[in-house]
Amino acid sequence: MWLDIYYNGNMNIIEVRNFTKKYGSFTAVDNISFDVAEGSIFSFLGPNGAGKSTTINTLCTIFEKTEGEMRIDGKDVMRQKDKVRQVIGVVFQESTLDTKMTLEENLRMHCHFYRLERREMSARIDLVLGIVDLLPWKKKTT
Ligand SMILES: Nc1ncnc2c1ncn2[C@@H]1O[C@H](COP(=O)(O)OP(=O)(O)O)[C@@H](O)[C@H]1O
Ligand SMILES: [Mg+2]
Repeated sequence: MWLDIYYNGNMNIIEVRNFTKKYGSFTAVDNISFDVAEGSIFSFLGPNGAGKSTTINTLCTIFEKTEGEMRIDGKDVMRQKDKVRQVIGVVFQESTLDTKMTLEENLRMHCHFYRLERREMSARIDLVLGIVDLLPWKKKTT
């Protein structure tokens, strides 16, 4: 039924159905479902131990789920991990930049992760550095 919703054009970029995660016999996430509409900003809040990290790590293809369905951009999070990884970006709480590399080199590495065409890389790096006013720091280490 939720696939129908996707193909009918009411695009949910994230779809979670009856997700359950067990660590051994302990149920960390118990049968949750939610959608995130494309282009929206979605906050996933809850007290410590509620299961937020477990859910997000599973959506990011890092953890295996126990039960349920998860799709990002229509792709199955468990069965199409590589395809999901191509369309997601994760910003961590702590910086994950390599401090031995320049800003440009860090971004170039990420361009490679996402298999950007080589000839597009320089322009894209300048574009994003321009957006965040960091062009003057392009050749500096982070
Ligand atoms: N690797 C693990 N093994 C066993 N229990 C875990 C593990 N990771 C998390 N938990 C338990 O699962 C529950 C949800 O944890 P977590 O997803 O980290 O919650 P949150 O991010 O909302 O604080 C907690 O009770 C936590 O103790
Ligand atoms: Mg957490």
